[in-house]
Amino acid sequence: MAKVQIKVNDNGSYRVSGDVELIDAEGNVFETKPSFSLCRCGLSKNKPFCDGSHKGNFESCVRAEKKEVE
Ligand code: FES
Repeated sequence: MAKVQIKVNDNGSYRVSGDVELIDAEGNVFETKPSFSLCRCGLSKNKPFCDGSHKGNFESCVRAEKKEVE
């Protein structure tokens, strides 16, 4: 099984790829593609998915702490 990856995009969505199931608060399953984007800005009209509404309206660039390679 492929490891699930969630990428925090600059000024935009969470990009999800891998074998994952997206469910709502009642356990109902959303139909998804092998890779999809979740809204991080709160502006999407198609939540929980990103619809591009973040463009020009949302700023957030976060970075994970880099680990030293020995
Ligand atoms: S992150 Fe794209 S619409 Fe919210």
